[in-house]
Amino acid sequence: MKGVILAGGNGTRLHPITLGASKQLLPVYDKPLIYYPLSVLMLAGITDIQIITAPDEAQAFHRLLGDGSWLGISLTYAEQDEPRGLADAFLVSADHIGGDSVALVLGDNIFHGYEFGPMLQRLSEDVRGCFLFGYPVRDPERYGVGVLDERNELVAIEEKPARPRSNMAITGLYLYDHKVVDFARGLRPSARGELEITDLNRIYLERGEATLIPLGRGFVWLDAGTHDALIDAGNYVQVLEHRQGVRIACLEEIAWRMGYIDRETCYDLGSRLATSPYGRYIMETAEAW
Ligand code: TTP
Repeated sequence: MKGVILAGGNGTRLHPITLGASKQLLPVYDKPLIYYPLSVLMLAGITDIQIITAPDEAQAFHRLLGDGSWLGISLTYAEQDEPRGLADAFLVSADHIGGDSVALVLGDNIFHGYEFGPMLQRLSEDVRGCFLFGYPVRDPERYGVGVLDERNELVAIEEKPARPRSNMAITGLYLYDHKVVDFARGLRPSARGELEITDLNRIYLERGEATLIPLGRGFVWLDAGTHDALIDAGNYVQVLEHRQGVRIACLEEIAWRMGYIDRETCYDLGSRLATSPYGRYIMETAEAW
């Protein structure tokens, strides 16, 4: 399975911050925002990942993450010349995806929950149709929402419904089988001029091939698209990391625990950042094992 991180867009709700820097490179407490969605793909066992950026931004992401070999994975970059919508990711990354299945994650989404990695690994081994992930929210009218019947089967997808039939928002992580690029090629822009992921998901739904997996209460799903959401996400990560003494989305630690790099390499990566608590955490974690 291939991975794609959609890290372009204009980030207008974060102006003026995003006039000078990509949203996905902004800090969420101790690390750049893109570390969080990248960690999700790595935990899912996906090691061949393309990062889609806004025009002229790929270089900044490359400076941060390089070709991924330091983490034992492959990272490539593609530029989206304008924000044509979430489903445009499959056109931009068509060559990268080839005939494979693919996981798409939005570059400003943060997921945190018990055993999320193993669950994703199981699902990604055999993707039939598409797997979407639902999260109960207080304000479903702001999201694409999924409606489940009494047997927990997905029966409808509504985009920003004025009168929502469900409070289950569809989150920014999507697993698709090999048909997704073809389906995306057939989409037409919506009234707001974008290729809508909701339209793509509805194609799968109409074929009886869409599954919505509700993420439970103990789960956290955040995005960092507004000033308040960005600071809330940072505060959440800070509280959790201070309380538990473990770090969320520490790429070096994940690469080691997933077997992409060995312990010595992990320790060395930490030692290069030894003046920061993040780097010292990596060294201590690798040493303690
Ligand atoms: P959004 O938050 O919907 O859009 P945005 O980041 O441009 O922000 P704003 O609404 O403040 O202008 O996008 C969700 C994620 O998807 C985010 O990481 C940006 C990315 N994205 C693209 O890379 N290309 C696109 O065409 C769109 C619509 C979003």
